[in-house]
Amino acid sequence: MILTPITPDRSRRVACAADMPSTVASIPRGRMAQILAEVGERARAARFEIAPNPAVGAALVAADGSILAEGRHLVYGGPHAEIEALRAYRATGRPMADVHTLAITLEPCSTTGKTPACTDAIIKSGIKRVAIADLDPDPRHRGRALAILGEHGIEVETHPGAAPLSVVSPHFESYTSYERLRRPRPWLIAKWAQTRSGHLSPPEDVGEGRWISSPESLREVQLLRSHVDAIVTGVGTVVADDPRLTVRFPAGLDRPPLRVVLDTELRTPPDARIFRPAERGEAGGPVYILCRAGANGVRHRELLAAGARVHPLRPGADGRVHLRESLEWMWRFGVRRALLETGPTLLSSYFEAGFVDQVRIYTGNVNGGRGDSLATLLAGTKLLERSDREVGPDAVLEAFVGRSSR
Ligand SMILES: NC(=O)c1ccc[n+]([C@@H]2O[C@H](COP(=O)([O-])OP(=O)(O)OC[C@H]3O[C@@H](n4cnc5c(N)ncnc54)[C@H](OP(=O)(O)O)[C@@H]3O)[C@@H](O)[C@H]2O)c1
Repeated sequence: MILTPITPDRSRRVACAADMPSTVASIPRGRMAQILAEVGERARAARFEIAPNPAVGAALVAADGSILAEGRHLVYGGPHAEIEALRAYRATGRPMADVHTLAITLEPCSTTGKTPACTDAIIKSGIKRVAIADLDPDPRHRGRALAILGEHGIEVETHPGAAPLSVVSPHFESYTSYERLRRPRPWLIAKWAQTRSGHLSPPEDVGEGRWISSPESLREVQLLRSHVDAIVTGVGTVVADDPRLTVRFPAGLDRPPLRVVLDTELRTPPDARIFRPAERGEAGGPVYILCRAGANGVRHRELLAAGARVHPLRPGADGRVHLRESLEWMWRFGVRRALLETGPTLLSSYFEAGFVDQVRIYTGNVNGGRGDSLATLLAGTKLLERSDREVGPDAVLEAFVGRSSR
């Protein structure tokens, strides 16, 4: 069955993928399902770079079932898969008339977010047919793109089971769960560097500098910082390390991430390096300090004078900054993807509260260390879709954090 046009009445429930078997003339369904599964598998490789966005793959397919061009969503905030596929195809110089179908593993977006709506780009491209493996799980968008494409005379077919979201991008199901939509909070990536024993502070005799991880890892972290909306730390790190939390060499970065310090009693020194103007080749977002309502009035004024924006929040049960409030506050400030770069105290608190969604852990070529080890916390954490790789001399573990660990 060809689904064209789908009712223009948006208030009508659009049937879910499983309800909608169909075929696009001349490309066998089996071949289309195979293409969707293949591009979906390849799209998964970027899952840690783009979360909480879904991993999505797209292909422009010729009438004989061959793939003419392919695209994936590769970078958070960057172009979506269908836009990348269209760009790759245009670069070949072939006419759009050679394209039979645009295959996409997930229903395209139909609203403007960090990028314009993909439905608009598809309509403008002149593509006549779209094959989709799964629908957007967010009930506010589910089926909406199919209706819009249908209204513009584009044939839409679905392939339930070919590349289900539960296989290609399960983290997106968690991000769009009822609980999460009801009380939204940013996707939180905890990144830290540890010694082999899980210590975040190297032993005194680590040698030159204080870094656990290698220059190659530090470069990767700069890239990660340029793809988040906020960098979050605790006052313990500000006092111990006096970090800048800027992005170095931020090519094309128009809005550097906010810098957020959780500091219950306003212990942040007003002369901390975080307040210094950005140097050549670096970019830093505004500095926000989240504190307890009623904290140190004198210091409050000193920090404002230093350039901080100080936001009192009600305290949590332990008297410190309320973690859920901190995240909900960030959400209200437009933060959707935040990077937690802090010491073991605040890291453990966010983990124990169940707010860490993803980890990136660099284990350097260093033994021992000072302070608390995170080895026990990590052993009790359910890691999903884990990936292990190496960068320079360091081991890098990336994973999503499972719900049962919370
Ligand atoms: N290897 C790495 O990747 C890495 C990264 C960063 C830091 N570090 C190291 O970590 C060490 C500092 O770690 P740390 O554990 O002392 O400090 P931290 O985790 O950076 O900050 C902890 C502080 O945050 C404040 N805070 C506010 N609200 C909180 C809440 N709800 N729960 C927990 N804390 C809250 C608390 O101070 P108040 O109660 O006064 O607000 C707490 O003492 C340094 O040695 C630094 O070098 C390592």
